[in-house]
This record gives sequence, structure tokens and C-alpha cells, in this order.
Amino acid sequence: MPMNIAVIGGDGIGAEVTRESLKILQAVSQHVGFDYQCTELPYSGQHYLQTGTVITEEQIEALRDYDAILFGAIGHPDVDPGILERGLLLKLRFDLDLYINLRPIHLYPGVQTPLKEAGPEEIDCVVVRENTEGLYCGCGGIMRKGTPDEISTQEMVTTRKGVERCVRYAFELCRRRKQQGTGRGQLTLVHKTNVLTFCGDTWFRVFEEIGQAEYSDIECGYDHVDACCMYMVTQPKRYDTVVVPNMFGDIITDLGAAIAGGMGLAASGNLNLDVSQQGPSLFEPVHGSAPDIAGQNKANPIASALSLAMLLQETGQLRDDESAVEAGNCVEHAVGMLCAKLAGQNMDRLEIGTDEVGDQIVSLL
Ligand code: IPM
Ligand code: MN
Repeated sequence: MPMNIAVIGGDGIGAEVTRESLKILQAVSQHVGFDYQCTELPYSGQHYLQTGTVITEEQIEALRDYDAILFGAIGHPDVDPGILERGLLLKLRFDLDLYINLRPIHLYPGVQTPLKEAGPEEIDCVVVRENTEGLYCGCGGIMRKGTPDEISTQEMVTTRKGVERCVRYAFELCRRRKQQGTGRGQLTLVHKTNVLTFCGDTWFRVFEEIGQAEYSDIECGYDHVDACCMYMVTQPKRYDTVVVPNMFGDIITDLGAAIAGGMGLAASGNLNLDVSQQGPSLFEPVHGSAPDIAGQNKANPIASALSLAMLLQETGQLRDDESAVEAGNCVEHAVGMLCAKLAGQNMDRLEIGTDEVGDQIVSLL
């Protein structure tokens, strides 16, 4: 059965970088003899402005039939903040139960980092961000809005089940990285347990319990999130695998993208690894739709290409499809070669165009 991929390019540069990834996908599939089919879907700010709906329940249901989703970015200057984020991206994360947000922080050789003394040896970790709870739940409300007595709350929701499945995934990943020689077997929990004494307590106990009972081969550590921001800059090598709740994960992975060469390179996978649920995982660049540079052939499509590589690797593994995994490895390798070739350039302001980056990756394949 061919891998069945839904493609949601979205808005602005999201659509532009996704176009390059589709070009790369076609080339790599011929190269390794891997079989897939793509369906392009229109969900975006533009679609919302034209139709009045972001995405319907039926359309979400229909997505469950795909093996994976390749996502670009959403965000439109004429749509109020929150509508597309909550209405599409977060809705997909929650409704499809994409409980892991996997974000590698990996400095490719040749890529410039703002950290003066760090290289690919030092900047090489992976962040496992919890993706379905915490401050992102939307629990809370606002009353007496616009008056001096206005009250608003937004609650940090933490469930034992949600923490457990995330922490367990992080331990497994950490162990796999150690076995493959890509990691050192060190897992760090990042939270703010000194202030968030309830939610932090749940995270900390689950982390300790699972670590002690099932992963004696893994070295466990803990950092407060503020200190983590400092260490990522002053001693990035401190981190191998990191597990972190939703909002803190959002913040530290932008910092991670910055030290690994910029938003132009940062890829992510929103994963549902529960085979019994059989839904697709969603892969997307960490960057947004960047309306300021949209339509100018300026965006770096590497973040999308690396998200495609992850899509092929993760979905291939889940489906036991070796050719898909190989295709993913090929794309990642070609990107690595291109990074070495572009050595020294600012990855967020490349001297070559979006389409040319895509073409070069295709020729390096
Ligand atoms: C990200 C983004 C999203 C988030 C926004 C667009 C809702 O910043 O994927 O990191 O906060 O998770
Ligand atoms: Mn973010």
C-alpha cells in the first residue's frame, strides 16, 4: 500500500516551503523506489476568509484515514490571532491526540551558530514537548471584560496519563539514542517545580518513578525552565534528551532553533504513536507563515524538508516500511550536504531562493 499523505501547506511561506518538500518527496521516492500518494488540502487563513470556516469536524474525521500529514504554517494578517492557531493547528494536535511534539536541536556542520564556542559536538539534543495539555488546553475564561474588575484565568492542566505517556516516550527515545550512538543516555526533565508546586509535583514524581522502575540505564536530571534557558546558551552540551511540558517546550525550542542555526532549519513532528488509535502524525516546520517575506521566494524550505524527512522516518517505522525510512534518511543526508555547501550563510536569510534550495536538495539526492 502506498503511504497516504495529506498535505496542508497553509498560509504565506508555509505553502511555499511545502511546495519544495513535495518536489523533494517526488524525487526521493523515485530514487529509493518508495511508493506514496498525496492529497493537497486547502485549510488556511485564506480558506477561512473565503468560506467562513477553518476546518469542520467531518474534515478532521476524514484526516484520520491518512498515514501522515505534512503541514506548512498558518497565520494570516487579516485573521485575528488565535482563530487559526486554536481552530486548526491546536485542534489537530488535540483532536488527533498528537501527544508528542518532537523537536531535534541539531547543529549541522557548516551552519553558523550565535554561540561563539559551540559546534555540532555541543549542540545536539532532542526535545520531547508534551503536546496535548498544560497551558494550551484553553481551560479558563474571562469575565467583566473591559471593566476595572476584569478577571481572566487560563489553567495549566496536567494529567497523570498525559505526563506518563510523554515521559515514557522520552525515556524510550533517550535509550534508543544511546543504543544508536547518537545520544549519551541522559534525560533531563525541565519544569518549574519550585513555583508550580502542583503540576510540577505530578511531573517530577512520574519522571522519578518511571526512571527508577524501568530505566536504570538512563541518567536522569532536572532543570528549572529559566535555568535551562541559560544553560542552553552557556553549556548546550548539558542536554541530550529533554522532556518538558507544553508551554515551556514551546519557548525553549525557539531558543533551541536559534542556537542550531535559526528558524529556517527547525523541524518538528507531532506524533501519535498509539497504534490502536491508528491516526496520522503531523510534521511541520517550527516557523510560522511569515507574511512579511511571503511570496518573495525568500523563505528557507530546509525546515520543511527536515520535517518531511522526519515524516518518512517516523511513519515508515510505524508502518514497517523500510523504503520510507531510507527515503527519510536520504533527505536528511542531502540537507546535511547542502548545509555544508552553504557554510557560513545566514540560514534565515539565504542568498539563494526558496525554489533553488529545493532544486539543490533534489540534485544532492
Ligand atoms: C509552535 C507554535 C504554536 C505553538 C502556535 C502557532 C500555536 O508556536 O508550534 O511552536 O505555540 O505551539
Ligand atoms: Mn512556538
